[in-house]
Amino acid sequence: MTKLLFTPTTFVGMDLRNRIVYPPITTGLAEPDGKVSDRMVEFYRQRAAGGVGLIILEPGVVHQQAKLAKFSAGAWADDQIPGMTRLAKTIQNEGARVFLQLCHAGPKAHPRINGVPPSSASDKPFFFKMPTVALSQIEIKSVVNDFTLASARAREAGFDGVELHAAHFYLLSAFLSPVINHRTDAYGGDNQGRARIIREIVIAIKQMVGKDFPVTVRFHGYEEGAQGLKPCDAIEIAQIFAEAGADGLHVSAYGVPIPELVGIASVASSPIPAKEHPQAPFVDYAANVKRAINLPVIAVGKITDPEIAEQSLQEGKCDLVAVGRAILVDPQWPNKIAAGKKVIRCVGCLDCINSLAKGELVCRVNRELVRVCPS
Ligand SMILES: Cc1cc2nc3c(=O)[nH]c(=O)nc-3n(C[C@H](O)[C@H](O)[C@H](O)COP(=O)(O)O)c2cc1C
Repeated sequence: MTKLLFTPTTFVGMDLRNRIVYPPITTGLAEPDGKVSDRMVEFYRQRAAGGVGLIILEPGVVHQQAKLAKFSAGAWADDQIPGMTRLAKTIQNEGARVFLQLCHAGPKAHPRINGVPPSSASDKPFFFKMPTVALSQIEIKSVVNDFTLASARAREAGFDGVELHAAHFYLLSAFLSPVINHRTDAYGGDNQGRARIIREIVIAIKQMVGKDFPVTVRFHGYEEGAQGLKPCDAIEIAQIFAEAGADGLHVSAYGVPIPELVGIASVASSPIPAKEHPQAPFVDYAANVKRAINLPVIAVGKITDPEIAEQSLQEGKCDLVAVGRAILVDPQWPNKIAAGKKVIRCVGCLDCINSLAKGELVCRVNRELVRVCPS
């Protein structure tokens, strides 16, 4: 039974037709200048038409030199707004709601793509020995401004809200995590200091873009390693976001604490559970935050079994479930599950993320993944 999964709900003040979210998954389908392409519109139209309640769009990058991938979508310039408007409308016309994820790649911004060394909370590289620049306080103010202006563009384009990407060791996550943030000023140190930049961004968006424009934050409920964020840190950090005015939380994680898998870097040190992992390995991190904080929570991470999705909702572990690769592979996943039909299954091979690093999203199961979209 998947009764609750398909019961309409209200999330951060907006109506959703069900409790299924398609989380941000970079497609590499944007134009080289970050504008929305026809292929991108068709790719997301198909997923909206598949019945999902909310799509959190892949990152709109907030600065031209902060791209995650060569063909990242952009939210750094006003001439990107018309394409974003077309995309948001197309998704909404299919009955789904749409948020734009906002991201600065920070220590993961490769100089080959961005033409400058990566910047971060401190000079500790994310990539092995990559020279990395610690942002000054003046540069931090400028990053806050970039996120705020990008939110204003998202609002103008008709998005239902924005999600700040503060997970997966991109810039905001690099500030949050003691693994990478070694600063000794007001933007480092304890959870309050490491969360400061995000707090300032949330406050600035609410002041400049509007209190009624929803802002959610995606962050880690757990990080692998002795220095990584622990569930108790996640609660403190979530409380800081709530007090700043955030409307909702999206709890991802980095690394799956299964002793026999720790040390296998490509499998364990990732926010993307592989075929070796059990179902929903991060859902209890979402539940940990949900229990402590009075904000709606999205859970994510290998939730491909609808019964487990339903159970997580029934048990109050989260308010919405994000279903990523399963919907990437089969855009009709929500409609098919609702109708009791068979879906095309993600096998957890990670070809998608590995191929994206080379520039194109490839799926072992659905070879037509991006080819079905007009180029
Ligand atoms: C190819 C690929 C690209 C991704 N890109 C992003 C991204 O741009 N931003 C983000 O927050 N997460 C990204 N993710 C992580 C997903 O949003 C999600 O957290 C992860 O895939 C686990 O969910 P799943 O098991 O349902 O796929 C990506 C995942 C994959 C597989």
